[in-house]
Amino acid sequence: MMRLLDLRDDGLGAALCVATGWHRLAHALHAFPDGETLLRLDEDLRGADVAVLADLAHPEQRVLRVLLAAGALRDHGAARIGLIAPYLPYLRQDAAFHPGEAISARVFARVLEREFDWLLTVEPHLHRFASLAELFTVPAHNVSAAPLLAGWVGEHVPDPLLVGPDAESAQWVGATARRLGCPATVLRKERRGDTEVLVHGAIAPAWRNRTPVLLDDMISTGHTLIEACRLLRAAGLPPPVVLAVHGLFAGSAHAELLAAGARTVLTTDAVPHAAGTLSLAPLLADALAGFPPAPGNAN
Ligand code: R5P
Repeated sequence: MMRLLDLRDDGLGAALCVATGWHRLAHALHAFPDGETLLRLDEDLRGADVAVLADLAHPEQRVLRVLLAAGALRDHGAARIGLIAPYLPYLRQDAAFHPGEAISARVFARVLEREFDWLLTVEPHLHRFASLAELFTVPAHNVSAAPLLAGWVGEHVPDPLLVGPDAESAQWVGATARRLGCPATVLRKERRGDTEVLVHGAIAPAWRNRTPVLLDDMISTGHTLIEACRLLRAAGLPPPVVLAVHGLFAGSAHAELLAAGARTVLTTDAVPHAAGTLSLAPLLADALAGFPPAPGNAN
């Protein structure tokens, strides 16, 4: 039976075990006063097939804990160890934009695959890399959040107009709009710095009575979607619903989005946050019915 080492402990792991029938491993985590972590595994793991579930937002604080967990599982005899990281960090730095810059996406992939035999994630930010297979040599699977987002919009938003804030969002906006059979448009973004973003574009007059749903893969500082909200409000549209897969919400991003005119701000629970009410457990469980491949049967 598959076992889950749940390093998040926010409810997603428990829901996932209910949906998959997996066993949630007994363990204890202790944080020393100086910030180091001690993990204690409380079960016999010889020959076990284990998945580690982790929140890797704000990764510099959390990645080492995940690597420690993988090493400890290995030392205790686990035969195969996978990583379920609903949010996979560092993927936006997928090229050296200036001479000498690290391509963090590649470096981070190499770090993970030294410790893990497989990886499952949700809507990774793939832009210059077309697929996870270009980054990972171990089996790596990308779960689409489109069914969850489309289901929520279909249930709660009459006459939606899906709006992507930039070219990269076209993939998520397109997949969700196709499921809903509603119109979609994509704005243009010009990024001048971490929090300096310009968003341009026009909304066709025929769509002005629809409810705008701004959709992106992630909210970090929130400035991409704040500027998109302002553009929609200035164009005379009703307050937009802001929907994202990964809510990193750096600083006061959440409050600033509401102040910019968002009707509501909602994300999946890929990253734990009060706005993260759309549970990924059913989608993850479906994906895990066919992934990872059985040992010795890579695909
Ligand atoms: C970038 O292309 C991503 O898809 C997001 O639009 C971006 O990372 C959001 O960042 P922020 O919230 O800091 O504007």
